Amino acid sequence: MAVAVDKFDLLFDEIVRQFTSFSEAFAIVGAIYTTHKTFNIIHGCYRAIYVYGAPRLRGRPNLVSRYGRWALVTGCTDGIGKSYAQELASYGMNIILISRSSDKLLKCSEDLERQFGIETLTVTADFSQGRAIYTMIEQEIKDKEIGILVNNVGVMYYPENLHEMNMDRIFQLINVNVTAATVMSRIVLPQMVERGSGAIVNLSAATSIRPSPQLAVYTATKTYLDYLAQALQYEYADKGITVQSLMPCFVATKTSQYGGDVQSPGYFIPSASLYAKSALQTLGVTSRTTGYWPHQLQFYIVEMLPKSVWLWCTNIVNSAIKRKIKAGQQKKK
Ligand SMILES: NC(=O)c1ccc[n+]([C@@H]2O[C@H](COP(=O)([O-])OP(=O)(O)OC[C@H]3O[C@@H](n4cnc5c(N)ncnc54)[C@H](OP(=O)(O)O)[C@@H]3O)[C@@H](O)[C@H]2O)c1
Repeated sequence: MAVAVDKFDLLFDEIVRQFTSFSEAFAIVGAIYTTHKTFNIIHGCYRAIYVYGAPRLRGRPNLVSRYGRWALVTGCTDGIGKSYAQELASYGMNIILISRSSDKLLKCSEDLERQFGIETLTVTADFSQGRAIYTMIEQEIKDKEIGILVNNVGVMYYPENLHEMNMDRIFQLINVNVTAATVMSRIVLPQMVERGSGAIVNLSAATSIRPSPQLAVYTATKTYLDYLAQALQYEYADKGITVQSLMPCFVATKTSQYGGDVQSPGYFIPSASLYAKSALQTLGVTSRTTGYWPHQLQFYIVEMLPKSVWLWCTNIVNSAIKRKIKAGQQKKK
């Protein structure tokens, strides 16, 4: 051996031989990686066509016979909830509207009845109050066959570090974003199980796939909703119940105006009505989706970003929003 390595040409040959086998190993790893990525892209394209294209071709399903006569939407006097209620009504479903402002509820109910010739039931409840409201809600809806529950109600806040957040605000956020969906699902599930049909939709958010510094509580509550939906889907699928996690990116509503700029709808930031129309078409087709295909593209990009890059970027954006809001507040003073 000593003779072999002492001779340069033999040593060189040996290195080249080793290198060739390393190259082969690298080539195999590269081929596996490329195949995996190619498969993911093809699978992603197939899923996009299946989820967003195929339902349009199949036409409008009969939601009443598939799920039940009534749909219940929480937080339904504005934004996505209001549009989701309108969309469900356009399929002939009666609507239970639960929100906190009686006057807005009355207006929504009258509009829905007039426009779609359906029945409505309104329940005024402030979900930030926690446990106190649910006995009343249960009583109000007890005779209704609830086919679809849309756990839409949710609140957002300006970027803030946790130690600066008001204590009451924290409890309100958790009550509205987490408790409402959990308890409302608990209330409607027994009748869905008994009938062997029904659907629950949780409004999570695309941002829930990554933590967001300075919006820590919001994104954590949305991740909770996503996980709740995924686990319930598994638990209740064999009982004929569909549970869907909807994870939108920006939709042009009050929530998405938290940075102070009024978002006008565009291709990547749809209006609430366009979003609701697209999202409802995915119900029964997929159990976890952004609900709108340009959002799906954004979702894939965020998923591909390394977590450290995402955390860094989000922190910078949220700090800038915070500074802008503080400057605006000081100007007003
Ligand atoms: N918009 C987005 O870009 C976006 C993105 C991802 C996820 N989401 C999620 O989608 C859901 C709907 O968002 P959105 O943008 O449509 O919201 P929005 O426009 O602010 O509307 C929220 C609705 O909930 C009601 N509400 C708020 N607090 C309530 C409470 N304590 N009790 C009862 N009702 C209450 C509001 O009633 P009032 O009319 O009386 O205020 C309103 O009807 C939320 O869960 C949100 O987190 C939104």
